[in-house]
Amino acid sequence: MEHIYLREITRADITTTHIWRNDIDVVEGLSSTYRYVNFETEEQWFSNYQNNRSTQVRLAIVNKSDDVLIGMVSLVNIDFLSKTSELALQIGNKNFWGQGIGKFAIQAAIEHGFNNLNLNRIYLYVLTENNRAQAVYRSIGFKEEGILRQAIFKSGEYKDLILMSIIRNEYF
Ligand SMILES: CC(C)(COP(=O)(O)OP(=O)(O)OC[C@H]1O[C@@H](n2cnc3c(N)ncnc32)[C@H](O)[C@@H]1OP(=O)(O)O)[C@@H](O)C(=O)NCCC(=O)NCCS
Repeated sequence: MEHIYLREITRADITTTHIWRNDIDVVEGLSSTYRYVNFETEEQWFSNYQNNRSTQVRLAIVNKSDDVLIGMVSLVNIDFLSKTSELALQIGNKNFWGQGIGKFAIQAAIEHGFNNLNLNRIYLYVLTENNRAQAVYRSIGFKEEGILRQAIFKSGEYKDLILMSIIRNEYF
């Protein structure tokens, strides 16, 4: 995947992440609830990240040829005592879906987590209906730990989440 690279997100990215946050196709796949987000809230979200970099790493997925932002992959809720972190992924630019970029970005993020942040366990939550995301996670080696029943209210119904994780010595 030589045409893609990761870098830490910057304030300039939030004009794009704000568009994604209100894109129904992207939001539909996320394992979080939905509400409208104004630009001021997006700015606060970025400032909050800047003030909490010790427990979060948020990375932009970028197209090398034109520096266009394609998506974001994040390690959040980092616990340096137990060496765990939660992973979140979105390819916000839908033109780039289905090209293996999601898989590449997760692998790069978890290798950073295991090799540079000294993490041992990386976990994530995925909607039971999000088969595309599950396919990516399983192909990397994430294992299902269990179901959180009716954990998220979204699009008029309660939805189940799958908890998945990968352990350092399973990955390498
Ligand atoms: C889910 C998402 C991250 C996947 O990224 P992507 O770059 O399109 O994924 P990839 O191209 O790396 O891989 C897609 C895989 O899913 C498979 N797939 C695609 N649609 C599928 C479906 N409906 N059911 C099952 N598998 C599917 C593909 O065959 C491919 O697997 P393969 O590599 O073994 O062929 C991206 O679509 C996205 O950001 N969606 C919106 C937000 C979201 O859902 N985020 C995840 C939250 S947990």
